[in-house]
Amino acid sequence: MSDPVFLLAIESSCDETSAAVMRNDQVLSNIIATQKVHEKFGGVVPELASRAHQQHIVPVVQQALFEAEIETHQLSAIAYTQGPGLMGALLVGASFAKSMALALNVPLLPVHHMRAHIMAHFIRSNQDEEVPEFPFMCLTVSGGHTQLVLVHSPLDMQVVGETIDDAAGEALDKAAKVMGLPYPGGPHVDRLSNDGDPHKYTFTTPQIAGFNYSFSGLKTNLLYFLREKNTHDSNFIQRELNHICASYQHVVTDYLIAKLEAAAQHFNVKQLALAGGVSANSALRAKLAALCARKGWQAFVPPMSYCTDNAAMIGISGYYQFKQGHSGSWYDVPRASWPLDRAL
Ligand code: KG4
Ligand code: ZN
Repeated sequence: MSDPVFLLAIESSCDETSAAVMRNDQVLSNIIATQKVHEKFGGVVPELASRAHQQHIVPVVQQALFEAEIETHQLSAIAYTQGPGLMGALLVGASFAKSMALALNVPLLPVHHMRAHIMAHFIRSNQDEEVPEFPFMCLTVSGGHTQLVLVHSPLDMQVVGETIDDAAGEALDKAAKVMGLPYPGGPHVDRLSNDGDPHKYTFTTPQIAGFNYSFSGLKTNLLYFLREKNTHDSNFIQRELNHICASYQHVVTDYLIAKLEAAAQHFNVKQLALAGGVSANSALRAKLAALCARKGWQAFVPPMSYCTDNAAMIGISGYYQFKQGHSGSWYDVPRASWPLDRAL
C-alpha cells in the first residue's frame, strides 16, 4: 500500500469560505464559514465577500487542520479554487494557497469550481460506497451555472448543453426575491413548496432547441403573473405563497429533468447525476429518482453537505489531479470566467 496523500483544500469563489483536509478520497474535515453579510442586500455583494473571506480564511484553515488532526508538515499539496467565481473572492483563496504552498514547499492544485461540484460524487466515507461509472451524465445546477456535462473521466468532461441566460439557481433566487423571501431563496422555495400544490398555477416551459436551457422567460412569466394578481388582490402572494412556490418549482425541475433525460438518451448513458447547490432541491432529487426507476437507470445525488459550496469537493478534485500529476504553478491566476471543458 502506498502512503496516504494528505491535502489541504480551499474554496473561496463566492460567499462561502471553506477549508477541508483530505486523506486520499476521504474527508477528514470540511469547515464552512457562510457569509451572512449579504442577506440584507438580497444577493452577494462582491466587495463584502472579499472582505469576509479575508477575515475567515485563517481561522477556517486552522479549524480544518485541527479537526483533521493533521500538522502542516504532513500535507502533500494544497488545492484551491482557481475559478470561475468572483475575482476578489478567488484572489483571497488563491493568494493564501500560494503563500502556504511556498512556505511548505508543496505543489499547488488549481481546481475548477464546477468540475469540483461534479467530483463531489467521488468522495467516499467507506471504500464500499458506490460511485458513478464513466461515462455518466451530470446536471450541474448552481447559482451561476446550469449545464449538462458528459463526464468521461475525472479530468475529461464535455459540456453538451447549458443555459443561454440565467442559471436555474438564479431563476429560483430571483423568483424568491420578488415574493419577498430572503436570499438565497432556493432553499425557501423548496421548503414552502412542501405544503403547496404544484399544479395549482401554470407557468410556461421555455422552448429552446437541443440540450440548452433558458430561464429568463420563466422568471418574467412569474413576475407578470404576480403583478397582475397583485393589482386585484394585494394579499395574493402572502395567501398563495406555498402554491406559487410549488407550481414554479415544478416547472423549473420538470424542465431540468426533461433535458437531462433527452441528453442521456442521446448519448446512450445510463448513469445520471446531479451536482451544485440546486441539487439539494427535494423535488429535483425526487424527479431524478423517479426517472431512473422508470428507465432502469442509476441515479447519483451527492450528500446534502456536499451539494452547496464546500472545500471537500475542491479536495477530491485536487486529489485526482495530484494522482495524475496535474499540478499548477505560481504563475496561475484566478479566472473569474472559465469554461468547464477547457479547464485542464
Ligand atoms: O453551488 P452553490 O452553493 O453556489 C454556486 O456555485 O452558485 O449554489 C447556490 C445555489 C443558490 O441559487 C441556492 O438558492 C441554490 O443553490 N439552492 C437551492 C437549494 N439549496 C441551495 N435551490 C433549490 N432548493 C434547495 N434546497
Ligand atoms: Zn458552487
